[in-house]
Amino acid sequence: MCGIIGVLGKTDVVPSLIGGLKRLEYRGYDSAGIAVQTGGLMDRRRAEGKLVNLEKVVTDDPLTGLTGIGHTRWATHGVPNETNAHPHMTPLVALVHNGIIENYRELAAELEPRGYSFSSETDTEIAAWVITSFLEDGKTPEEAIALSLKKFQGAFSLAVIFKGEDDLMIGAKRGAPLAIGWGDGEMFFGSDAMALAPLTSRISYLEEDDWAVLRREGATIYDGNGAQVDREIKLTKLSGAMIGKGNHRHFMMKEIVEQPAVIGETLNGFFNPKSRTITLPDLPFSWTDLPKVTIVACGTSYYAAMVAKYWFERLAHLPVEVDIASEFRYRSMPLPEGGLAMFISQSGETADTLAALRYARQQGQHIASIINVEESSMGRESDFVFHTKAGPEIGVASTKAFTCQLVTLACIAIDAGVKRGTLSAEEEAHLSSALSEVPARAAEILDHDGAIRELAKKIFEARDILYIGRGPGYPIALEGALKLKELSYIHAEGYAAGELKHGPIALIDETVPVIVVAPTDHFFEKTASNMQEVMARNAQVIFLSDAEGMKQLGEHALGSIEIPTVDPFVTPILYAIPVQILAYHVAVLKGTDVDQPRNLAKSVTVE
Ligand code: F6R
Repeated sequence: MCGIIGVLGKTDVVPSLIGGLKRLEYRGYDSAGIAVQTGGLMDRRRAEGKLVNLEKVVTDDPLTGLTGIGHTRWATHGVPNETNAHPHMTPLVALVHNGIIENYRELAAELEPRGYSFSSETDTEIAAWVITSFLEDGKTPEEAIALSLKKFQGAFSLAVIFKGEDDLMIGAKRGAPLAIGWGDGEMFFGSDAMALAPLTSRISYLEEDDWAVLRREGATIYDGNGAQVDREIKLTKLSGAMIGKGNHRHFMMKEIVEQPAVIGETLNGFFNPKSRTITLPDLPFSWTDLPKVTIVACGTSYYAAMVAKYWFERLAHLPVEVDIASEFRYRSMPLPEGGLAMFISQSGETADTLAALRYARQQGQHIASIINVEESSMGRESDFVFHTKAGPEIGVASTKAFTCQLVTLACIAIDAGVKRGTLSAEEEAHLSSALSEVPARAAEILDHDGAIRELAKKIFEARDILYIGRGPGYPIALEGALKLKELSYIHAEGYAAGELKHGPIALIDETVPVIVVAPTDHFFEKTASNMQEVMARNAQVIFLSDAEGMKQLGEHALGSIEIPTVDPFVTPILYAIPVQILAYHVAVLKGTDVDQPRNLAKSVTVE
């Protein structure tokens, strides 16, 4: 949420700042801005809305500098207009910031008697003035930052440049990510390695409460107590090329299409095709001794947790509780000592999920995370990490990360079942073979793209759309509804099909399309009855099923998508794909911004 870039360059840094912001725009796109300085002169440009607006401003009114910071914003305090856009500047500093400085009102109240006044509605501007006040008291930039950090409360990261200091940039991390990029006579700050990918592959990640003083020859890093510390320089495998759209119109479609490959890549980490077994890295606990498994996540990642609950309960006979991180973290739930707590997150930075992880650690749980961005806060704070190999996901709506999460969870559930003796070797071979078929079957689903686009034409003008499913199809119904509403702004809801007649069926009439997720598993007959019930009330049904399902019910639907026939174990992974494609085409028909839907950001680093 909000993207930060900072460059101490050898040449004009404006192109690098704009390039970095393009790679960070997925983190927020309400407004953007840059500030640069050369020869002690500081200047900035800001614009409301998408980055293209800032580019236009910079083209119409150019600026150059050897030192600079940039920001793309997801508004927390103050509406997304130019005045509230970062960088915030005083006569002495320019500052960009990600997160929230919670005590900004008290800080403002302390500053006002000294004659300071503020032009924006942001907490960020107050932070800039706090630093300025220390500088005006004669403190050095380093002292001013150290003192200011002691005053700031909340979760944030920031980067600051100082008037007259062309070879200095200071950044800090507390609760929101910040990475240092090491160049050759150049140094960088970025919210993530992706921002820095074409600029350098040598990255250090700041740890909690670290702050770093960058000069062109290197960085000096301090921990929260002011002690100088070393942070490992890692080589990132990301390259600028991995972050392009290829031949696709949108990142989202590129990422949907990548699924057969990245699912295969993720599975390869666990599946041995010769022995048809699943091997996980050594785990610091025994599945047989576990009193309980708790899985926590947000949004789409939470729906992956819901699917996993079915798998763990069925295959490993393990009691599993799943919860939304923003609820879990405040519930004060007692957890049995030695339990397993798993956290699922594409970004590894989601503020609520991270807070839930910390709570589970206090409760004596083994901490596992399933994350796509390996070098993320959750990865660093976990006892062990399952890395989904989806690659960079830029489209704000999660697609390939979700199916890779599911594949990973399926492997973990199989391992748990085998180790607990609830799954035989034959069953392991059978289920893991079913998983190994998923990439090929997923590729077949992509061939239905044209047909799904035609179905989208039938529903894109609807005001409300319902999704229903049972068993592991229920979270897929929820995921379908979430994808549709976030991308197309059509009101959509997912329901457990059996729950319809307890209320939601009152919504049904001929204007409400109902998407039915119905593989021919042991829930099929029940789901089919629920489908008949909504059709009896004139709903327009779009039916997602396999060849057998089509034979039985296909002709009754307004439209249908035939999914390859597979073992019921893997159906949630495959059925996720058509609901993604449907939401994509509806959004394209509605003309919404597919990759950057309104009000959203990819990485939700504020609670
Ligand atoms: C929806 C979507 C979000 C995320 C959620 C959690 O398409 O992408 O619901 O799943 O914000 O994000 P991560 O997985 O990064 O923790």
